[in-house]
Amino acid sequence: KEEKLWGGRFEESVTDAVERFTESISFDKQLYKHDIMGSKAHAAMLAHQGLITAMDRDRILSGLDEIERRIDAGKFVWRMDREDVHMNIEAALTDLIGEPAKKLHTARSRNDQVVTDLRLWCREAIDRIIARIGHLQVALVKLAMKNEGLIVPGYTHLQRAQPVLLQHLLLAYVEQLERDIGRLNNCKDRMNFCPLGACALAGTGLPIDRFMTSNTLGFTAPMRNSIDAVSDRDFVLEFLSANSIIAMHLSRLGEEWVLWASEEFGFLTPSDSVSTGSSIMPQKKNPDPMELVRGKSSRVIGSLVTLLVLCKGLPQAYNRDLQEDKEPLFDSVKTILGMLEVSAEFALNITLNHAKIAKALPAGYLDATTLADYLVKKGVPFRTSHDIVGRSVALCVSRNCQLSGLALDDLRGIDPVFEEDVYEYLGVENSINKFSSYGSTGSDCVAEQLHHWISKLRIS
Ligand code: ARG
Repeated sequence: KEEKLWGGRFEESVTDAVERFTESISFDKQLYKHDIMGSKAHAAMLAHQGLITAMDRDRILSGLDEIERRIDAGKFVWRMDREDVHMNIEAALTDLIGEPAKKLHTARSRNDQVVTDLRLWCREAIDRIIARIGHLQVALVKLAMKNEGLIVPGYTHLQRAQPVLLQHLLLAYVEQLERDIGRLNNCKDRMNFCPLGACALAGTGLPIDRFMTSNTLGFTAPMRNSIDAVSDRDFVLEFLSANSIIAMHLSRLGEEWVLWASEEFGFLTPSDSVSTGSSIMPQKKNPDPMELVRGKSSRVIGSLVTLLVLCKGLPQAYNRDLQEDKEPLFDSVKTILGMLEVSAEFALNITLNHAKIAKALPAGYLDATTLADYLVKKGVPFRTSHDIVGRSVALCVSRNCQLSGLALDDLRGIDPVFEEDVYEYLGVENSINKFSSYGSTGSDCVAEQLHHWISKLRIS
């Protein structure tokens, strides 16, 4: 057995079970690029500070480049007995270049090393997620553009409420996704501080320059407190919270589209390319991708909860428990990227069934609130107009007709305030045309919103 890098004070080697139980190489190897990036910045700083020679630095740098090439090419052998990504790379560097490699870990601990790697990894992951959110926003806006003027029932409590433009509804998701981007960017700004040089927890008496490594690695500044630097994973928690909110938004979109694809709604048809079938029922065509978007949101939310529970009982500073931060993080990122990608593909591959939607519009008195506003314009206090329209709806229910199906005499029988112009307010088209408040579903307001997104997302 090879002696451990930390083996000096030990007389026995660890048991196989302990080795298997404590290893993290099986999952933290995906940090290798960031680990090498951090080591290169560290080696350059050590040389600059006179802690290693320029020659040692150069051998370390070219050795690390060679190791990265081998890993990229799949030719690197990851060893479980070397525990984690940090010691695998350091030990491989020693195998490759000998003595100078033993100077790389000067004024460094795996505690500051791992959290530096993690911050670098998260920074990149956030950029990838933001790009995918952008693609989904574009797909939603394109779907909106394809369906100009389409009125759909708007729901509250999943009961027919008021007519809205489909574009308005889709742009609601685009707004929500934009705030998701904002949260990710905030989180990235806050996480972009460098732990490297905090060493195990207390810093070092060696003359390192933490500002130099921080700068080289593109961080805003070194973290002010070395204990804080190695002990907290709040940046991962913020990231997983932001991911959980994205997942929740996508899950709602999934739920809505699954509902709309049902025979009962029939508002949309996904193309075959984004549907799957049944192994027993030959007729089936299911919207599985969006069901799984809904389903996988649970993993993303679960990862957040895992990390919260992981961290809540830890005293300062580093604790080995923190090794368990990586799998939930990696899984959350991988899952959210897939969810975003598939949601965008789905959006680009659905057809809205205009005829079926038009058939659904007359039911549910979607124009009732517009009618109440009509009465307000005639000088009726809103509470009274609510009551008058309520009684009008009751009359319609008893006659099984729509509000626009009532004769003027019927309406005047309920209240003489009604005049001939009432019919300009009834029916979903008329109703939509009456909306004018900022952000409302009125055609002009929605056109303005759409225009905002087309130019912001640079859609041609
Ligand atoms: N693999 C460890 C982790 O992921 C690296 C740090 C280990 N530090 C230690 N002193 N055992 O957290």
